[in-house]
Amino acid sequence: MAAQPRVLLTTPWPTRAVEAMREHFEVDIHDGPLPMPEAKWLDAVQEYDAIAPTVIDQIPAAAYHGAQNRTKILGNFGVGYNHIDMAAANAGGVVVSNTPGVLTDATADQAVGLMLAVARGISLGDWKIRAGQWKGWNPTDSLGTHVTGATLGIIGFGRIGQAMAKRCHFGFDMPVVFHNRSKIDPALAQALGAKQLDSMDDVLSAADFVSLHCPGGGGNRHLMNADRFKAMKPSAFLINTARGDIVDEAALVHALKSGELAGAGLDVFEDEPRVHPELPKLLNCVLNPHLGSATESTRTDMGLMVFRNLLAFFNGQPLPNAVTQ
Ligand code: DGY
Repeated sequence: MAAQPRVLLTTPWPTRAVEAMREHFEVDIHDGPLPMPEAKWLDAVQEYDAIAPTVIDQIPAAAYHGAQNRTKILGNFGVGYNHIDMAAANAGGVVVSNTPGVLTDATADQAVGLMLAVARGISLGDWKIRAGQWKGWNPTDSLGTHVTGATLGIIGFGRIGQAMAKRCHFGFDMPVVFHNRSKIDPALAQALGAKQLDSMDDVLSAADFVSLHCPGGGGNRHLMNADRFKAMKPSAFLINTARGDIVDEAALVHALKSGELAGAGLDVFEDEPRVHPELPKLLNCVLNPHLGSATESTRTDMGLMVFRNLLAFFNGQPLPNAVTQ
C-alpha cells in the first residue's frame, strides 16, 4: 500500500474534521507555542506533503520554495489569506487553497451582534450587572442608539457583505448602501435592499453604521484612517469583522476619544492578539477576540473544506477552492 500523504495542522482543529483527515492522511498537529515557530516551519516543509495554516501563522519565505521542499500545498484553514504571500507561493510553485462560503453566515451573524452590542449597550449592560453597578431602571439610564431603520454602509460587497445586507435590510428595515471595487449587478443589490454608491466616502457620509467586509492586506491596509473617520457622521459606529489591518487602530482610538465617532464593534485587530492599549479603556467600543467564524459547526465545516482540497490535490484533481491570485 502506498504511504499516505503527511499533513501538518499548525493548530488544533475540531475533532470531526481531524477524523476525516486521518482517514486519508497521516496527520500531525503542532502542539507547541503558537504561532508555530519559524524553526518548526523550516523542518515541517521538509517533512510534510501539506501544511494547513491559519490566520495566526507567520509563514517563512523558505516555505514557498516548492521545488526544494516536500510541502507543495498550503491548505489554509480560513477564507482570508492575507497572511500568505501569494506572489511567493505562485513563484515557488506552492498551491494554496482556502475556505470560502462556509463561514459567511457565522461572520455576518457576529457583525450583527457587534452592531447591536455597541449601539444598545449590551456588553456594557452585562458588565454593569456583573460589577454590581446596576442601581435599577430609570427613563434615562444607559440610553443607546436606535438600530431599526438606521442606514447601514457596507465596505466590500462579497459573500459576507451581502449576508450582512440581507440580515440588516430584512431583519431591521435598514436602508443599505455599499462600496465595492467592482460593479455589482444592480438587480442583485436591489434584491438585498442595497444600493452601490459611487465612492467610499459617499457610503461613509451616508451611514449610521459602517460594516467592513473587504479583504485585508495590500491596498486595503489602513483603508479606514483619520480622514475616513472624519468622513463618517459623529453619531456613526464602525463594525469590523474582516481584518484588523484595514483600520488604522491609533486613528480609530483618536476618533472614539474625540467624539468624531460614536462607537465601534471590533472582532479583529491590527496586531493580534495584541490590542491597542487604549481600546479596552473606552466604553464606546465592544471588543471580541476574532470570533467571526467561531461556531462548532462552522469551524468543523472549515476543516472539512481544507480536507476536500487536500484530497483533490493528492488525487491529482482540480482543487474546489484554489486561491488564484
Ligand atoms: C477567516 O476565515 O478568514 C477567519 O477570519 C479566520 O481566519
